[in-house]
Amino acid sequence: MPDKLKTVRTVETLRAQVSQWRRRDMRTALVPTMGALHNGHLRLVEMGLRTADRVVVTIFVNPQQFAPSEDLDAYPRTEKADVEKLRAAGAHLVYAPALLEMYPEGFCTSVSLAGPAKAGLEDKHRPHFFDGVATVVAKLFIAAGCDYAMFGEKDFQQLKVVTKMARDLSIPTGVIGVPTVRADDGLALSSRNEYLSDAERATAPLLHQTLQEVAADVRAGKSITRSCSAGKKQLKQAGFKTDYLEVRVAETLAPVKSKSETELRILAASWLGKTRLIDNIAV
Ligand code: PAF
Repeated sequence: MPDKLKTVRTVETLRAQVSQWRRRDMRTALVPTMGALHNGHLRLVEMGLRTADRVVVTIFVNPQQFAPSEDLDAYPRTEKADVEKLRAAGAHLVYAPALLEMYPEGFCTSVSLAGPAKAGLEDKHRPHFFDGVATVVAKLFIAAGCDYAMFGEKDFQQLKVVTKMARDLSIPTGVIGVPTVRADDGLALSSRNEYLSDAERATAPLLHQTLQEVAADVRAGKSITRSCSAGKKQLKQAGFKTDYLEVRVAETLAPVKSKSETELRILAASWLGKTRLIDNIAV
């Protein structure tokens, strides 16, 4: 009989439950989220269930990864509906700490990063972001002590940053990347898609389509610089404002020096109205 889905709110109860499973020789997978769950998150749960015996989902809207200009208060908070979705998906435990449990009074420690966190992509436009993500993810990894953690490839730079952080800090949680879940028209699922107007939602799939076209051009041997410029121009004509659209070395996110470098990734962030969309695909 699978255990019933419980919600816990303290590190102590989270740790006690995971330790109990460990004593029963069960493997555990962590799915860190900020709630407002969609099918992309549920795919992470599904992959967690395929990888481990028990799946722990965390729901915490992390203030440390929002800049003062970004509207933390407007971020959707839908815990009740989230828990129902997780119950249906077969998750075993929800960890939803209050702000003071995560960041007690006087909290003053953060993880400082280099390498993929300073690739000049998301970090260039959201300089505060990865230190905030790495700090909360390190805290979640250490608190939960799970064997694995599932992260979506949609946030490709985040996946690389978290993987490197766990390795560098010898945190024994294996980070597993899960392919992006898309709507039928190709738009990558994201909690932020909710902010798109109907007209913007109709235009939004062009981001993925453009990445596919640029990737095809690069694969066909066309100049990377010219292909990326053409992609940005196409997006601009459709009303997007692009922060970046670049081809990078998939493993390190370093700029591409020669096309012979094996695995490449094309990554983009682009605004449609007030909504910032990100996406990436293999080249
Ligand atoms: O990807 C997210 O939802 C967040 O950045 C994460 C990993 C849950 C950390 O707050």
